[in-house]
Amino acid sequence: MGTKEKLKIGIVGTGGISNAHMRHYVTFDDMEVVGACDIVPGKAREFLDKYGLTKAPAFENVNDLIKNVKMDGASVCTYNTTHAECAIPLLEAGVHVLCEKPMSFTLQEAVDMVRASKKAKKMLTIGFQPRFDFMRKKIDSIIASGVLGKVYYVQNSGGRRRGIPGGTFVDKAKAGYGSLGDIGCYAIDECLHAINYPKPLTVSAIATDHFGKNPKYWPGYETFDVDDFSVALIRMEGGVTFIFKMSWAMHMDSLGYTAWLGTEGGIKKTREGAMYYTDIDGNHINSEVLKTIPFNAYEGDKPVDMWWAKMRTFVDAIHTNGPEPVPGEEILYNQAICDGIYRSSKLNQEVEIIIPKL
Ligand SMILES: NC(=O)c1ccc[n+]([C@@H]2O[C@H](COP(=O)([O-])OP(=O)(O)OC[C@H]3O[C@@H](n4cnc5c(N)ncnc54)[C@H](O)[C@@H]3O)[C@@H](O)[C@H]2O)c1
Repeated sequence: MGTKEKLKIGIVGTGGISNAHMRHYVTFDDMEVVGACDIVPGKAREFLDKYGLTKAPAFENVNDLIKNVKMDGASVCTYNTTHAECAIPLLEAGVHVLCEKPMSFTLQEAVDMVRASKKAKKMLTIGFQPRFDFMRKKIDSIIASGVLGKVYYVQNSGGRRRGIPGGTFVDKAKAGYGSLGDIGCYAIDECLHAINYPKPLTVSAIATDHFGKNPKYWPGYETFDVDDFSVALIRMEGGVTFIFKMSWAMHMDSLGYTAWLGTEGGIKKTREGAMYYTDIDGNHINSEVLKTIPFNAYEGDKPVDMWWAKMRTFVDAIHTNGPEPVPGEEILYNQAICDGIYRSSKLNQEVEIIIPKL
């Protein structure tokens, strides 16, 4: 594909987050949005019209969109439990896919998505925009330099005091997961991408719903059927231990800080910034890596929006036929952990993580 020809992009699922995709797509002059679909009749049409794309056709299912519109790439912005059923036919039809996070609900769905991507030789990239966060990139590069020695322990921070969202996020049939799929998958990605995603081996976890099921804290308590808190111990290949915890609601302001512990140094990330700890000649050295800055994604010296970077890198990767900005194959381990957390919690015991062969 020559860079002068405009890329053709489709949108699958035209609910809340599709607007964040579209907002950036409409500013790129090397591509055009050529069609959309949503299972709710009229919703895709209304969405396209809102952005002035009155000539781009709208459909009520992904197969009709594929049949009628030639696309180079597509954004899958449906709710979590329909990511796989939309991404797979797109990949099979030769369309590169940017799929929203979490990658899927079940591990098997994620495996099927990666298989379809490999078979079709088309990209499957997952929508983790914090990958483009300036602070994260700094921490990733410090860890990649090897100064921490062997990293043997990781923990995430995060959690909300009161932050159960509404809509499809609390509907198990649509979201699959609660806080785990909404914000937990980001925390897993932050901790593990920095250390090249070691393979998860076992998970011992508890996922609970004390706030979502309590009328005092959540008006939709009667139908609430996902997790609002989870905690897990994950054993990973190479002797790495990962302590994960996440919350949508709790009587606390935070579940701590993100940390990477290595044999030669450590990094701590809080809401205020990041610190590096080491010893030099027997002296404890604590260095500030960076204070948290408000505008947190950069292209060289130019501040940009993480969302802009997420959409721009997808379009650029289509021009060059890869590599994927956030490879589906890597996020398979993220999905395997989420899947393991639910299985372990349900069985009330530690479970093994077995990832089917790709
Ligand atoms: N990256 C981020 O910051 C971010 C933020 C919010 C949501 N998300 C993710 O985006 C996804 C969508 O979230 P949302 O808040 O926009 O949800 P939403 O419910 O507002 O929108 C989803 C849309 O998909 C449509 N849909 C569902 N199944 C479909 C199918 N098979 N074919 C076509 N259309 C289908 C629904 O009718 C709905 O309009 C979720 O996976 C969520 O986790 C990501």
